[in-house]
Amino acid sequence: MYNSSQIKELQAQSLHWINNTEKQNITHSDLLDLQNVLQFHEYRYYVQNDPLITDTEFDALFKALEKLEKAHPEWVSAHSPTQRVGTGLIKDFPKTQHLVPMLSLENSNNADDLNDWDRKARELSGLEQIEYCVEPKFDGASISLVFENDFLQTGVTRGDGETGDNITTNLKQIRSVPLQADFSKYGIEQIEIRGEVLMNKKNFAAYNESLSSEGLAVLANPRNAAAGSLRMKDPSIVAKRKLEAFLYHVSYFTALPETKNETIPIPETHSGMLEMLWQLGFRSPQKEMVVVKGIDKVIEHIKEFEEKRDSLGYEIDGMVIKVNSLKLQDDLGMTSHHPRWAIAYKFKARQATSKLLAVEFQVGRTGAVTPVAKIEAAQVGGVTVTSISIHNEEYIKQKDLKIGDAILIERSGDVIPQIVKSLPDLRTGDETEIDFPKNCPVCKDALFKPEGEAVWRCINVSCPAQVVESIIHFVSKDALDVKSFGEANIRRFFEKGLITDIPSIYDLTEEKLSGLDGFGQKSITNLLEALTQSKTQPIHRIIYGLGIRYVGETTAKALAQNIKNINDLAGYDEERLKLIEDVGIKVAQSIVEYFKNEDNLHMLQRLEAAGVVLEKTGNALPADGSFSGQTFLFTGTLTKLKRAEAEEKVERMGGKILTGVSSKLNYLIVGTDAGSKLEKAKKTPSIKIMSEEEFLEMIQT
Ligand code: IVH
Repeated sequence: MYNSSQIKELQAQSLHWINNTEKQNITHSDLLDLQNVLQFHEYRYYVQNDPLITDTEFDALFKALEKLEKAHPEWVSAHSPTQRVGTGLIKDFPKTQHLVPMLSLENSNNADDLNDWDRKARELSGLEQIEYCVEPKFDGASISLVFENDFLQTGVTRGDGETGDNITTNLKQIRSVPLQADFSKYGIEQIEIRGEVLMNKKNFAAYNESLSSEGLAVLANPRNAAAGSLRMKDPSIVAKRKLEAFLYHVSYFTALPETKNETIPIPETHSGMLEMLWQLGFRSPQKEMVVVKGIDKVIEHIKEFEEKRDSLGYEIDGMVIKVNSLKLQDDLGMTSHHPRWAIAYKFKARQATSKLLAVEFQVGRTGAVTPVAKIEAAQVGGVTVTSISIHNEEYIKQKDLKIGDAILIERSGDVIPQIVKSLPDLRTGDETEIDFPKNCPVCKDALFKPEGEAVWRCINVSCPAQVVESIIHFVSKDALDVKSFGEANIRRFFEKGLITDIPSIYDLTEEKLSGLDGFGQKSITNLLEALTQSKTQPIHRIIYGLGIRYVGETTAKALAQNIKNINDLAGYDEERLKLIEDVGIKVAQSIVEYFKNEDNLHMLQRLEAAGVVLEKTGNALPADGSFSGQTFLFTGTLTKLKRAEAEEKVERMGGKILTGVSSKLNYLIVGTDAGSKLEKAKKTPSIKIMSEEEFLEMIQT
């Protein structure tokens, strides 16, 4: 796609733009250059997965382009990287006909099927051996894209194969889909390309976690997540879902009218087409494909690839084998249903049928009561599954689940198994409704369901189930990381009364622990040592460990950046909290609520008394006191430093970061796109307003 001198040139241009975001006297050609630079970085990041600049630098370039386009709306083209960002809501997705019907493939799942298929192709072609291209069968939502005169015109779902929904605006949100590609270099005027939109495993897990934290039903697999996301009416939500697209098939193209320009010959093989797409900036399976001669090699490769299935970042459900020569593909043609030149090989199913035997209700750390389905042991993709979370009452209704039901379950890669659906056709009449308890299954207090939430909760803070879960969370790896303190022992110690709540873990002594079955001297020493070490963990880990609702690791870090001592948070109101990055209204309310509760404040006192350090120490101490007594605030987007880095520098030099503009503020450092804080500071003469560059100079001297 880009040769090494182009890469160097584009990188040099990037740095130039990053350092000159305020550039004056811009020409149209400058703007086109900047568009190219951004297109290049989108390609490096989303297609090649090998970025050359940081996210902050990319954002700075993006903002610079937005600013220029705002100043020169006459230069904005529909294909500028800024134009991916959809505005407004889509009313309906118009139906659009595919240029060529989107056929599905014949399926196979064993070597015999593949041998038969190869034999037929050899008989029809009269060839002794056929060259095949083998690539992954991506498990997502299929799409087709049409490019005309080098620009993306339409993007359509598969639909019924003849016509699909026009989802062009949504597909433009996917950064690995180029808005422009130089097909004209190949003498191509119009081209239709097929592919698959995916949500990778990591993003899928995070997405399900966010659904579940909002009390919403989680999705069974990334395929449903991708397909559902593509049908969102708000393109900005599609952008947030971080979808990816693999493009794997050219189904149609027309040639440009005769040109004098030399054109690159159009490839004559399927693998050549994938290479062409890759060269033009598409994420084709150019790296994942292999070209082999003869079906035996195909079978060998498929076996090897299946072993790698779990290590891929995305889901595949098999492999696709395609005759490599496009001429031979044409000669073989198709049956009434499928092309004869390709076949899908499906891997072992990760779905299985089972029976819902019973439902147990578990109480979590926040009091949320989660129903867990106990099912007849089923093998799914090599794992035995006997219980599956069924989330909440709404989910049970949606999936129409009854005790005794036959169910279809699925395990997508390393993702937790889910129930896909019940199979009501198989009911005998003996199935029974799932009754949701009205009282906590552990402490028997009445359960509550807050307005607008899907989850029933036990609100008794001393409910033993919640207490145990909160201790498990407090000592967990991402919180205080108390090694040698496993879940089973926590439950056992709690039942024996050795621990009663979070602070009580620091009251454990050698005496109390001695004489426990299977917990010898070595275990005791290790645990006590680990507990002592945990007392000086950084405060963001403690904040996270407290288990404040909606405060995950990222928010805990953001909070820690803004305070000296965890107790400081008791003095923060919602407005002040909302000024902190990552803190929205829900999080702010939850933090205020937490610190209003006397029991929680008392717990913090006990932790402190036990020697847990609630105050920032170590590298947070000023390394140089030159900013001592001075207060700082950053506003707008910084281009050279990350906000957190800049604030840390101030703190290291003894300065203090404020969260709002007031007469107490000494310095306001202004990045790009500063808003109301800058306006407010201008009205206070005692505040010194400086640019990021001036700030950098100041900290160097
Ligand atoms: S080729 C005319 N290649 O699997 C042939 N399909 O039934 C066009 N799929 O509908 C399809 N990965 O949605 C092809 N590497 C791949 C694929 C692939 C996934 C999907 C596609 C198709 C279905 C096969």
